[in-house]
This record gives sequence, structure tokens and C-alpha cells, in this order.
Amino acid sequence: MEKFVINGGTPLTGEVTISGAKNAALAIIPAAILSRDVCRIENLPVSISDVSFMMKTLRHIGAGVKLIDKNTIEIDSRHVNSYVISHDMTKHLRASYYFIGALLGRFGRARVAMPGGCYLGPRPIDQHIKGFEALGANVTIDDSAIVDTSANKLTGSPVYLDVVSVGATVNIMLAASRAEGLTVIENAAKEPHIVDLANFLNSMGADVRGAGTDVIKIRGVENLHGCTYSIIPDQIEAGTFMVAAAATRGDVLIKNVIPKHMDSITTKLIECGATVEEFDEAVRVTMDSRPKKCNIKTMPHPGFPTDMHPQFAVLLSLAEGTSIISESIWSNRFRYTEQLARMGADINVDGQLAMIHGVDHLKGAPVKADDLRAGAAVVIAGLAASGRTEIEDILHIDRGYENVVEKFGNLGADIRRVYCVEPFNIGDVG
Ligand code: EPU
Repeated sequence: MEKFVINGGTPLTGEVTISGAKNAALAIIPAAILSRDVCRIENLPVSISDVSFMMKTLRHIGAGVKLIDKNTIEIDSRHVNSYVISHDMTKHLRASYYFIGALLGRFGRARVAMPGGCYLGPRPIDQHIKGFEALGANVTIDDSAIVDTSANKLTGSPVYLDVVSVGATVNIMLAASRAEGLTVIENAAKEPHIVDLANFLNSMGADVRGAGTDVIKIRGVENLHGCTYSIIPDQIEAGTFMVAAAATRGDVLIKNVIPKHMDSITTKLIECGATVEEFDEAVRVTMDSRPKKCNIKTMPHPGFPTDMHPQFAVLLSLAEGTSIISESIWSNRFRYTEQLARMGADINVDGQLAMIHGVDHLKGAPVKADDLRAGAAVVIAGLAASGRTEIEDILHIDRGYENVVEKFGNLGADIRRVYCVEPFNIGDVG
């Protein structure tokens, strides 16, 4: 077992370079098998565990995966020979279900176990199924929770999403890019990683238009070819460093960023009193006084991202006055507030609302990462707090953040990854 040990209270200063976007990578990796060719993917966050699991899954179904350098891989999909992916492979992450759309597009058949992933509340896949069925697939979920989809022929079709879903939009784009005719996804997700996936598919010869708006049109093509493609920077990793800079009252230049993708986060940081300077591919965040209160409501893109609300809760915990966070995407995202309370935060949660009464300072404590972004929040809290914070269950953080210790360490933080013996659990005996 590993944990992070942080001695907090030092303002972060210096420069950090953001990695490629996790959620774009997780869609683009399975998309590569839609071609029977070789794709080179650059700016890939190779060392996060979600990406490792996706590469393992590729190998499991017969693809070749070659590491070219620390952020580039080549996926050789010529010999993909299986449309079956078991629970062992899918249990680690949500995005494993993108192999359903990709295998359906490639073979007209996919047998993929239900996905794992962070528990943020119920995570139904009804909109994915609705999309596959609209394209002519027969979908069943058997007793072992295997999603079995098969189609003699995939045929383009209109699909109206009842809820704006990133995952369903991705899965339908994947299958539809090899269907016969035109698919129109209405009420589609508009996140930057949806646009990145569309650009990747188009680099392989697909015909995808409208990504980034709520109507995406995909005209299926018979064959896709290999390509070289560079993934966009990670909006949420960048946002996490922006908030960390503000919460520690630091001065950080965050490089490899698309400032436009940061608009909703930048606006809220400015409202809290931070200074945010934008450059072509970087942003600089400085904060020299106590944060001001502000209210946040999470929304699908271009609204404020749900994946940034736990990090903001730390900043608002240190603000003057009372702030409200309203979470509208996930029903169980506030578990991390119990960890922040151990560090002295004053937060009342009522359903989908958190009322945060700002305190003067946070103090270090033993805490845990409940999920990926909850983990990011306790790291920021540890950096801003006085004293020592120990964070357990950091495997959640390793799922989505590359080189956390090195990146924060280079900004002057005192953060270490330590190995510790697993506590003896009497329940394990017998
Ligand atoms: N939903 C349905 N039916 C569906 C699909 C979704 O009702 O068939 C609902 C969900 O329950 C949720 C809402 O629609 O209330 C949005 O879910 P969405 O499908 O957009 O989420 P996702 O694709 O499962 C992705 C990210 C999440 C991020 C959400 C929202 C990936 C791999 N995951 O999840 O990222 O929170 O979009 O932006 O792209 C993270 O990176 O930490 C993370 C959890």
C-alpha cells in the first residue's frame, strides 16, 4: 500500500506542464481498433493507471501496443481477433465500455462486461444501449453482467439523448463511424474530449461533423486507416493545478493548456479573487490574499465541470464567507467533504447542495482519497493546510494524475509517496 505524505503550508511557485487529457485518451485508445492499421498517439498520459488498463485490454484482444517514448504509443490493430472482454479487464474503469462501441464498429459484435470506475452515484448505460439499438444492434445484458451487442449490419440513424452523456456520445460516435449511412446524435455532449475524439476519427478517415455542438453528424465509412494524432491537454489536471496555486496563495505558470477550455474555471477563480493571466498555451494563476466566497453549479460543458467541484470546495473552505456548491451531474459526489472536515473544513451537505462556511486555515490530518477528484481535493487541502497530512487510497489519484509528486514537488511542495504495510484486518482471517 502506498500513501502521500504532505507537509503543507508552502505557497506553490514555478512552472508545471500539463499532461494529455485522460478522458480524451480513454476514448481515443479504443477508437484506434476501428482501423485495421497502425495509429501513433502522442501526448498520451501513459503513466496513469486508467491508460495502462486500456493498453492491457488492447493487448488482450490481439492489438499490438508499442511504447515509442514516455508519452507516445503505437497501436497496431491489424490482428485484433476477439470481441470478448471479461470483468477482470473492465472492473478497473468506466471507460472500458468504450470497447463496446469500438468492437461493434469493427466486428458487428461485442461481449463486454459491465464497467467499474469511481462510485459517484448510479451510472446507468441506458443511453448507450438506446444508441446501439438505434443503429440496428441487438443488445442484451446477461446474468454475469456481460453486455452482448450484435448486428448483421449497422445502419446510421437519428439518436436523441435523453440526458447529455459524455459516455453515450462517445460510444455512439465509435459505432456510427463504421455504420452504413448517416447518424445524427442530438443533445450530444460538447466536452473538449468529444471534439478531440471526432478529430482523431476524422484523422483516420471518418466523416464526423458538429462535435462541440449539441448535434453531431456521423456519416459511416467502410474503412478507416492509421494516423498520427496528438491528444489535447487535460482540462481537469490544469484546473486542479490552477486551484492548488490559488489555495496555497502561490504563483504558478501552467503550461500545455488550451485557455479557452478553462473558461468556466478561470471565471470562478477570478470571482474568488485570484489573478489569471492567459497566454497562447499557458495560464498563470496568482493569489495573494484570502479567497472570496463564490457559488458554483456544475453543468455539462461549457458549464462548470463536475470533475472540478471537489478541488474548488477546498478553496472555498478557506474563503471569507459562505459559498454554495450545487452538484447537478452525480448524486453521490460529496463524500470527500468528510475528509475535509477532518482537516477543519466547515461544510454542511444536504442532498445535492453543499454549504461551505469558510475557515481561517486547514490543519493536516490523516485522510483518504474516496475517488479520483476527491483525491485531488485532499491533495490540495494537504498542500494548503498547516502541518502533516497523510493520504491513503492514492490508487484513485494515480488513475488520473501523472507524476503527482514530481509535479507538485517542482512547485516547492513537500510531498512524498511512501510505502506502508497494509493494516492487519481481523476480518481477513479465516
Ligand atoms: N447517464 C444516464 N444514462 C446513461 C449515461 C449517463 O442517465 O446512459 C447520466 C449519468 O448518471 C450522469 C449524467 O448522465 O448523471 C452524465 O453522465 P456521463 O455519461 O456524461 O458521464 P460518464 O461518461 O460516465 C464522463 C467522465 C467523468 C465525468 C462525466 C461528466 C470519462 C471516462 N468520464 O463520465 O469523469 O465526471 O463524464 O462530465 O470521460 C473523472 O474523470 O474523474 C470522471 C468521473
